[in-house]
Amino acid sequence: MNPPTPAPEALPQGISSSARRLPDVDGRPFVVDSAAGAWITDSDGRRHLDFAMAMGATVLGHAHPAVVEACASALQRGPMPGFTHAGEAAAAQALVRHAGPLVHATFVSTGSEAVHLACRIARRATGRPLVVKIAAGYDGWYDDVALGWTGSAEADLTGARPLAHGVTLVRWNDLADLEALFAECDDIAAVLVEPVLANAGCLMPEAGYLEGLQRLCRRHGALVIADEVLTGMRLHPGPSSLRMGLEPDLVTLGKAIGSGVPVAAVLGTAQAFESVIDGRVARAGTYHGNPLVTAAVLATCEVLESSDHTALLQRGERLAAGVRATFAGAGVPVSTSGLGSVFSLWFAPQAPTRYEVAKTLLQPERSLALHAALRREGVLTMPGGWGRLFLSFAHTEADMDFAVAAFGRAAGALAAP
Ligand SMILES: Cc1ncc(COP(=O)(O)O)c(C=O)c1O
Repeated sequence: MNPPTPAPEALPQGISSSARRLPDVDGRPFVVDSAAGAWITDSDGRRHLDFAMAMGATVLGHAHPAVVEACASALQRGPMPGFTHAGEAAAAQALVRHAGPLVHATFVSTGSEAVHLACRIARRATGRPLVVKIAAGYDGWYDDVALGWTGSAEADLTGARPLAHGVTLVRWNDLADLEALFAECDDIAAVLVEPVLANAGCLMPEAGYLEGLQRLCRRHGALVIADEVLTGMRLHPGPSSLRMGLEPDLVTLGKAIGSGVPVAAVLGTAQAFESVIDGRVARAGTYHGNPLVTAAVLATCEVLESSDHTALLQRGERLAAGVRATFAGAGVPVSTSGLGSVFSLWFAPQAPTRYEVAKTLLQPERSLALHAALRREGVLTMPGGWGRLFLSFAHTEADMDFAVAAFGRAAGALAAP
């Protein structure tokens, strides 16, 4: 690998979002030309089977024809009239169709905004100020929830419990820690939790953790906000947490619901949304729920309803098993953890479920070397140790064979002295 190509002057570091930059491999920078289905073509015309999938921003595959057609039509009819249009309510209806007691939805443009709004709703609904976030979780880049990202000192929770902008932290998979926090504080509005701690290497919930968290919140009058910006629509055409033991009051959705078009949403129960319905919660955003994004949501939901989620899950599990087997064959023990269509690879025989353990297993150099070896094979993954592999409905069985073979050669290259 070489040092990255110098960034163009007008765009600091050559990127607008830090996750976007990939390392140069063999002196070649990676610049996207186009993306379709499960494949990305770079500016040199090389095709890559994509397992980064815009960090989960599509579960249908890049440029799904139904979404492209719906968006093209919305653009022609005027993407931004500024006032109410029929698509907005229809898209909200489509999102709540598979969301059980979450009967209301409202749109924003990004996942970070959705988390911001969900916290605002929870504070209004309970009259309490404090939001509890999972240490090492990622719930967007806004200041309040930027506390305790992976690798930060706060995420270790070794000293006094951190508190900033009305947000504090608890340990993932540790109900005693949450219980202790509830004993210390009677002003908790909500616990903000992903059903899988995805941005920390897809740390799975231990048996009973999500149910226990839900029970504690109920007992203490705090709401549960399931942050499903990354996990939503991956187990069925709705929030995954509903199939994993949570009964959230509020759910944030993003990424997959727009198939690459910037749109996110907050879903909520009738009770949680009372303050939205009566107007006490301020919602303001020029682009929120515009015809372009709601066309993308409607088209995505329609395709998702006729998609085979079980097959997607099985394909992901087949890939994960294939990857584990090829590494084992090369004498490198690896494990995987995740939800089927989104999983992480660990250079350890047993995938961690606790952040304290995950940190000790991290091998950033090796993860980067794997990324580079796979790039040479025409397979694209996220480069970091906390990264994830994303599958979409566009990934075929033949793609799995291609990927497993590529992982096998990459494993061999990594194992070679
Ligand atoms: C769980 C989770 N919440 C929130 C966000 C923020 O979403 P966005 O990047 O659309 O602002 C992300 C983004 O990766 C996420 O994974």
